[in-house]
Amino acid sequence: MKTEDLPLVSAARELVRGVPHLIADLANVSALIYCSVENINWAGFYLLRGETLILGPFQGKPACIEIPLGRGVCGTAALEDRVIRVGDVRSFAGHIACDPDSRSELVVPLHKDGKVFGVLDIDSPVPCRFSAEDERLFSSLAAALEEEMP
Ligand code: SME
Repeated sequence: MKTEDLPLVSAARELVRGVPHLIADLANVSALIYCSVENINWAGFYLLRGETLILGPFQGKPACIEIPLGRGVCGTAALEDRVIRVGDVRSFAGHIACDPDSRSELVVPLHKDGKVFGVLDIDSPVPCRFSAEDERLFSSLAAALEEEMP
């Protein structure tokens, strides 16, 4: 399946296309994900500043503001530049529990000029909520953002 065959990816691309404001783009995409994906309790972004991920636009309960590179699911995904899909957050050593309701999590790194500049983080109250197909979906969404964002 091609990326543009995925409605959520197309919708995200349309939201950010031609909008030269990073924070506005990420805010709208976090709202799009939160409103259209079932069984999630948090969707948003952390942006890399130096060696620390800083909380960016999101939907869900208030979350931790700073995550050092290499810490938690987000910091590990950013440091190792890889998608991390956690079926049971309690079994991930170092998981940072922002919302105690979260049971599973998917984190996708975002790149600019070939370097990680942040992550997309999605949490679910349902164990093993995210499938390999979801991983492909949100990786495609991240790639679309990388192409379209200022
Ligand atoms: N659970 C994440 C922290 C961010 S919150 O889920 C919004 C982690 O372990 O990095």
